[in-house]
Amino acid sequence: MRKFLKWTGLVILVLILGLYVVVILNQNKKYEAPYPNVSASTDSAVIARGKNLVFGSAHCANCHSPKGMEEKVSQGEEVPLAGGQEFDLPIGILYSKNLTPDETGIGKLSDATIARALRYGIRSDGTALFDFMPFHNTSDEDLVAVISYLRHQPAVKNIIPDHNFNLLGKLVRAFILKPVGPVGTVPVAVKRDTSAAYGKYLANSVANCRGCHTNRDMMTGAFTGEDYAGGLKFEIPTDSGTYSLTTPNLTPHATGRITGWSQQHFISRFRMGPLVKNSHMPWGPFSRMSDDELKAIYHFLQTVKPVNNTVPHGLVKEK
Ligand code: HEC
Ligand code: HEC
Repeated sequence: MRKFLKWTGLVILVLILGLYVVVILNQNKKYEAPYPNVSASTDSAVIARGKNLVFGSAHCANCHSPKGMEEKVSQGEEVPLAGGQEFDLPIGILYSKNLTPDETGIGKLSDATIARALRYGIRSDGTALFDFMPFHNTSDEDLVAVISYLRHQPAVKNIIPDHNFNLLGKLVRAFILKPVGPVGTVPVAVKRDTSAAYGKYLANSVANCRGCHTNRDMMTGAFTGEDYAGGLKFEIPTDSGTYSLTTPNLTPHATGRITGWSQQHFISRFRMGPLVKNSHMPWGPFSRMSDDELKAIYHFLQTVKPVNNTVPHGLVKEK
């Protein structure tokens, strides 16, 4: 019996060691994807368009601002994109990158490398990015605008720490994480007007409305709910306990949050900024969206499939 136990113990030990080696060897798996045909422009109209995207609908500023600027961001102010915000997740701590032209930022990356990261979810070193950003189907024209603005900003020196993955994070990186790329054909340019078609493009491929207002598996990011039916739950730890906020249903159903809202009411709501403290919605950047952009999104939301889904409203005390 003792001998048997000794052998099983040894086999288990070898298996665990083997698994550990496989996990470590697979930490930096490399992936291939084409480099988009995108290069920065110095045209002032293109740079201005990029700035609108970065501080508005595409809300790069929300995640790539330095720590301690949350208040300014939530008021829609222009902050340096020096990065370093911490995302404390079940897989470890991730840091947003410095997006200014300094060499501690995007200074050493080519335009095509930045574009490939946004479209195909692949870092400059070939490894897969975690899918935080919804720009896989963003048009060539808008990627050019964003990158042109990034190149144009003042450089800020800010060394960002490497991500700190825990064991779960290492397992996810070894076995689950794959780069997320575009669905179907990516448009070269999208006509900017107040149509539902443009609203759909903004909501799905620029502003990430779909990414938050659809239920998802928090570990893999996969969509599990019906589009725009809400139900994605965010936990908010505070000194007085943990609260949660759940994204509302935006479909035109009786249980939808904006059902019955006029277009003007919808636009006015966006001009107000955050009303729920600690809301994850980037209200500050979104308050800078133009009336036309908001009209387009409003028109689009009237066209999505109505889904019956009652969602708790406001902060809910968890524990
Ligand atoms: C919801 C938060 C969020 C938003 C919005 C966001 N980012 Fe990021 N971004 C991150 C995080 C987190 C990482 C690091 C992810 C990783 O390394 O897996 C990152 C990484 C990057 C990278 C680094 C790729 C590399 O090679 O390491 C670039 C470039 C980038 N973001 C550009 C942008 C631009 C441009 C925008 C706006 C158009 C934007 N991001 C909007 C959170 C965000
Ligand atoms: C990062 C996640 C996130 C993104 C991106 C996001 N939302 Fe939200 N949204 C939330 C959360 C959480 C709430 C509930 C808390 C609140 O009202 O701020 C919410 C609330 C709302 C509300 C209800 C506001 C109210 O006063 O009751 C509307 C309308 C809305 N979102 C529309 C949108 C639209 C349109 C977009 C894209 C332009 C969008 N959201 C993008 C997370 C998000």
